[in-house]
Amino acid sequence: MKIAIGSDHAGFPLKEAVKKHLEKKGVEYKDFGTYSQESCDYPDIAKDVALAVKSGEFTFGILICGTGIGISIAANKVRGIRAALCHDTFSAKAARAHNNANILAMGARVIGEGLACEIIDAFLASNFEGGRHQRRVDKIHLIEDEQR
Ligand code: RB5
Repeated sequence: MKIAIGSDHAGFPLKEAVKKHLEKKGVEYKDFGTYSQESCDYPDIAKDVALAVKSGEFTFGILICGTGIGISIAANKVRGIRAALCHDTFSAKAARAHNNANILAMGARVIGEGLACEIIDAFLASNFEGGRHQRRVDKIHLIEDEQR
């Protein structure tokens, strides 16, 4: 498993904590920035991580901004990306099991490090259930196709 991780300035401190957590778990990752708390624009990071996940080189992405909202909205503009904003472990499990989410988004101004790491663990440990959920995920991407 290989994770693409990124944040804006607001998410930077939580991203650093998440990196340590992934290292402890032995999960390989690549940090797509940002690399300091200097102000930057979350769509730039969202795009880089989303394209990296879309390329197939990375199993999942983790994106963090202040609320998780802007960075998840931006990531979801990349065709084939299903970014789920999760601030609890139930949603994180369902995001994988039902939505086959390929990016987990979180808000560093909303949750603390401990919960963020538990959410990541829940997300990474859950598998897509397929079946009726596959049909629904397919319909999400049909909407993308209709916009071409
Ligand atoms: C940055 O101030 C903040 O707007 C951003 O991190 C995020 O919360 C946007 O959705």
